[in-house]
Amino acid sequence: MFEDRLNPSAKKLLEAPYPFKAVDESKENAQKKFGKDFIIDFGVGDPTDATPEIVRNACKKAVDWEMQSGYPVTGGTVELRETVAEWVKKRFGASLSPDEIVSTYGAKYACFVIPRLFIDAGKGEHCIVPNPGYPPYSSGTIIAGGVPHYYNLLPENGFEPDLQAIPQNAVKKSKVLFLNSPQSPTAKIYSKAKLKEAVDFCNDNKIVLVSDECYSDLYFAEPPHSVLEIRGSENCSVVLNSLSKRSMMTGYATGFLASKNPVLLGAFKRIQDKSVQGVATFIQSASAVAFADERHPAEMRKIYKGRLDALVPALKGIGCDFMLPEGTFFLWAKIPERFSSPRKFCEWLLIEKGINSVPGNLISETVGGVNPGSDRARFALVPNIDGVREAAKRLSE
Ligand SMILES: Cc1ncc(COP(=O)(O)O)c(C=O)c1O
Repeated sequence: MFEDRLNPSAKKLLEAPYPFKAVDESKENAQKKFGKDFIIDFGVGDPTDATPEIVRNACKKAVDWEMQSGYPVTGGTVELRETVAEWVKKRFGASLSPDEIVSTYGAKYACFVIPRLFIDAGKGEHCIVPNPGYPPYSSGTIIAGGVPHYYNLLPENGFEPDLQAIPQNAVKKSKVLFLNSPQSPTAKIYSKAKLKEAVDFCNDNKIVLVSDECYSDLYFAEPPHSVLEIRGSENCSVVLNSLSKRSMMTGYATGFLASKNPVLLGAFKRIQDKSVQGVATFIQSASAVAFADERHPAEMRKIYKGRLDALVPALKGIGCDFMLPEGTFFLWAKIPERFSSPRKFCEWLLIEKGINSVPGNLISETVGGVNPGSDRARFALVPNIDGVREAAKRLSE
């Protein structure tokens, strides 16, 4: 009943399967069989480490200090926007005025809503999105009445986008390009030259560049660059960042969007004002404290490196192959040859070893006859070091 009331874009969105359903079901079955504590969960990309104490304390203090909780400042408090501008300067050497920054409900909301600002519904217009990539890029495109145009991220291209390979007819119909560096789940960081190529491509074709940089502080060697450092980005780009992964604040849902283009910034600011309340003021206060602190991200980088070093030899030992992650907390592993599909490999890991992971083909699309996840599995380095060592031990047995 009422299915016929859904509009075509909503129907299309609802038709798409929820990729984690199968993973959740397998995990639940394994938990029933072995007990919850036996499963070591590399499946969900959600940090399990505590939000830093200084951030929690700042939040508690702000709740008490405010006492009365009125509607928050939707675009973000001056304090938060000034702190973000200082962080951008320190981190990337780029200058932003606080007026070029908007506080957001993390990056997800922004990714989902941005296509609606640019896609003319039902006319076959595109957002260009990475494959594999963060699902709201494509779901936001679909609900906006557009059609995602996927670019495959493959080992033979060093997991980098080949923008020149996008057919001209698709480029002409494209309004937005989503770029994600460090990239989830391939763990690739794009060079400054690659970012410049994307900026030039967008300026040449009048395409809005959405640079999702929410893993910018999770890296294993060289810190990633931001699109904000690239000449020409001031015309065409919006940059997204978030405290979800940098500061273990997924539950706080807080981040920012920055743009030097007043049309792009203003459009996002208005659609956010018109659709949601601002991020709670006490969370904005905690966010400012998080962005002002560099110690906790540095500590987390060491922790993720320890987990990576513990897991890598064990996965290699069972026949996995991969590019060592450059950033994010993901490992995008090629499955051992003896498994005919990622699903079979992940089931084996779960049933035989009590290790949960995500089959790569569930989070990738088949495009041009190629599914970049058809021989891959994703591991999120979120279990604590004891869990990772235990996983490594089980893999070696
Ligand atoms: C690439 C990417 N962008 C954005 C997000 C979501 O960010 P937030 O938690 O700030 O909404 C995620 C979360 O997993 C992500 O992987």
